[in-house]
Amino acid sequence: MITRLVKADERSVAEAAALIRAGELVGFPTETVYGLGANALNEQAVRAIFAAKGRPADNPLIVHIAAWEELLPLCHPNKAAERLAEAFWPGPLTMILPKKDIVPTVVTAGLDSVAIRMPSHPVAHALIQESGCPIAAPSGNRSGRPSPTLASHMMEDMDGRIPMILDGGACDVGVESTVVSLTGPVALVLRPGGITPEMLAAVLGEVHVADSVMRPLKEGEAAPSPGMKHKHYAPKAHMTLYEGRAEDVASRICAEYDALAATEKCLIFSASDHLALYGARQTADLGPDAWAAAHAIFAALRQADTDGVTRVFSESWPENGVGLAVMNRMARAAGFDIIQV
Ligand code: TXA
Ligand code: MG
Repeated sequence: MITRLVKADERSVAEAAALIRAGELVGFPTETVYGLGANALNEQAVRAIFAAKGRPADNPLIVHIAAWEELLPLCHPNKAAERLAEAFWPGPLTMILPKKDIVPTVVTAGLDSVAIRMPSHPVAHALIQESGCPIAAPSGNRSGRPSPTLASHMMEDMDGRIPMILDGGACDVGVESTVVSLTGPVALVLRPGGITPEMLAAVLGEVHVADSVMRPLKEGEAAPSPGMKHKHYAPKAHMTLYEGRAEDVASRICAEYDALAATEKCLIFSASDHLALYGARQTADLGPDAWAAAHAIFAALRQADTDGVTRVFSESWPENGVGLAVMNRMARAAGFDIIQV
């Protein structure tokens, strides 16, 4: 199959919507990461998503909508969902709610809940609206690869597997949406993202964060979200995260880098402010703050693979605000190899 990479405009979005209606797959930009979309109500089309990604069938998909009313046939919303939608939709927030029968079980991997999100990206919004159906879309990477934040990343992973990718430029947030379960008595964050636990608590009063967000699941432990039990974002390089005072972290990283530099291709992930601490060593600048790091992290992981890096040493970011989302992705990329300095 030839994959067409097309700049998103009125005409290409109309073509993409026609493909979705015909049961085909389309790559499209959202404000978080690029998604791999199909008609959520077409079982065959949804199966093709799993095949194109190489995604395990037990990991459910997010259903994307363009207006609140479109949620009503899909799930049973509650008061918390209404208040969060009012505050954060359209935007980088996914809500887990009890599903209705119209949603094929292949979408939800057999769960009785469904994940729903209303993206704010104008191209995503237009695509859903013109398709006239809810769009099931995981991140547009091959399973186990970093999520795509540029159309070219999606092309790297999906060339030859899908007919079309809409190019809408760089994604704004850079990490996937916050996933919050509203099926229990208290809202539970299953995956941190651009809508932070602090922001959710400001609306709902009380919010819990699943503690497996920042640690690996134990042997035999049930995952609150299927996505947690699958290996994620793994770069080819062995990656280690260092936590502590910036100067201490930098001198430890420098020592380990120098010890390995003769035999390994090493790279340091650093905040802009700390670059000078690493002298002439190879660094990737992840920007001045956690928002910048969220925007940069997946591209940096991809670049490390492209450059044949075998060893990544990474600084840490404070786990508040969007820093929690950054550290959640980094800890997984590092296989939870985290060193306290
Ligand atoms: O920002 C995003 O959310 C992007 C864009 C394309 O919208 N999509 C995305 O989808 O990241 P995906 O499939 O890569 O991640 C969906 C996550 C997975 O961790 C999955 O396990 C979880 O949501 N999930 C989906 N349905 C669920 C459910 N019913 N209960 C618990 N977790 C669920
Ligand atoms: Mg994903």
